[in-house]
Amino acid sequence: MPSRLPPFEPDLARASTLPAFTYTDEAILAAERERIFRRTWQPIAHAADLAAPGAYVTGDVDGAPVVVTRDTAGVLRGFHNVCRHRAGPVALGKGARKSLTCKYHGWTYALDGALLSTPELGDARDFDRSCHGLRPVRACVWGPIVFVNLDADAEPLERVLGAIPDETAGARLGAIPDETAGARLGAMRLVARKDYEIACNWKTYVENFLEGYHLPTVHPGLYKELDYDAYRVETHRLYSTQVAPIRRAPTEQAGARQYAPSGEGELEALYYWVFPNWMLNVYPDNMSLNIVLPLGVDRTLTVFEWFRHDGATPDAIERTIRFSDGIQLEDIEICEAVHRGLASGAYETGRFSTLRENGVHHFQALVHAHLTSAAR
Ligand code: FES
Ligand SMILES: [Fe+2]
Repeated sequence: MPSRLPPFEPDLARASTLPAFTYTDEAILAAERERIFRRTWQPIAHAADLAAPGAYVTGDVDGAPVVVTRDTAGVLRGFHNVCRHRAGPVALGKGARKSLTCKYHGWTYALDGALLSTPELGDARDFDRSCHGLRPVRACVWGPIVFVNLDADAEPLERVLGAIPDETAGARLGAIPDETAGARLGAMRLVARKDYEIACNWKTYVENFLEGYHLPTVHPGLYKELDYDAYRVETHRLYSTQVAPIRRAPTEQAGARQYAPSGEGELEALYYWVFPNWMLNVYPDNMSLNIVLPLGVDRTLTVFEWFRHDGATPDAIERTIRFSDGIQLEDIEICEAVHRGLASGAYETGRFSTLRENGVHHFQALVHAHLTSAAR
C-alpha cells in the first residue's frame, strides 16, 4: 500500500501535501501503526509512580500491553505485560509489589522479569524456567514522564529529544516570576487530565498543532495573547519547536490576558512536537503534554495532561485548564471539518504556505519517509 504513495518533495516551496487517501485508507493506518507508532518512543505513564523500588506502572503502545518496574535494586525495567504461559497480564494499573503475579493462573515474575514460580505446572517436560522470563521492552524516564519503545533498534530517547531538555530547563522562558523560577519539567506534578475523542485522522490533528497559520481565524482569543508576527516554527531532525512570544500590552490591558507580560525580559511559550504524536506545551508556570492516538482512520484520541509546580493554587490551575480547553474545542471543530473535506472525494492534495507551514511539511516528510523506508 505505501507503494501507492507518490514521492514527497523536500523543497517546501514546490511540495504538495500528502494525498487525501492517506487520511482515510485503512492500509495506510496499519502501516503507520507498524512503521511509526511501534518504532518510536511513546509516553505511557508518570515518573512519580515509579519513584521507589518495587513500584510498577502499566500502559500500552498501540494496544500492546507493557509494564515498567523499578526493581529492588532501583533499576528501571520495561517488559511486555504478557505472561509467558498463555499471554495473561502480569500486572494491572499501578502500585508497588515485590513480584508480579499473572492475573490468569498465577505464574509469578520478579521485578527484573525472571520467572519465579509456576504453580501446578505438573511434570511439563523440557521446560526451562530461566528461558521464560518476561520479554523486555525499552523504557526510560524523562521529566515527569515514562516512555517505552517497542523497537529494540530505535535510537535512544535522549538523541530524539535533541536540545529540548536544555531549553525547557528554563533558559528560554526568560523572566519567570519567583514562585515558578526554574520551570523544570521534572519538578512538576500532574494536576489534571482530559481526554478528547475527535472525528479526524491523527495526522490532521498533529498538522493543525504544527502551524500558527490558523491562529487569527480559529483562535481569536489566543491570537490576542501571542505576537503573531514573531511566531515561528523551527524544525529539527525528529521534532519541531514553535516559538510564540507573549504580546506586550499596555499595563491596563495586561490583566485581561492569560499571561500578563512581566516587565523585563521575554516571556515565551514553547510548543514542542516530537515525532510522531506527542506535544509538550511549556508556559512560564505550567506545562501540558498532549498525546495523539489513532483509534481508526477517522477517530483520534487526544490525551491532555497538565503539570504544575507544587505551589500553584487551584485557582491558577483551573484558569489554565479552562483557557486550554477553549482552544482545544476550537481546534477540534476545525479538524473535524477538515476531515470531512479530506474524505469528500473533492480534494486530492494541496500546497504549503512557505511562511507558516514549514512544520507541517516537516511532519509529512517524516511520515512519508517512515512509510516508504525498506521494511525491517
Ligand atoms: S497466562 Fe499467566 S499464568 Fe496462565
Ligand atoms: Fe489551533
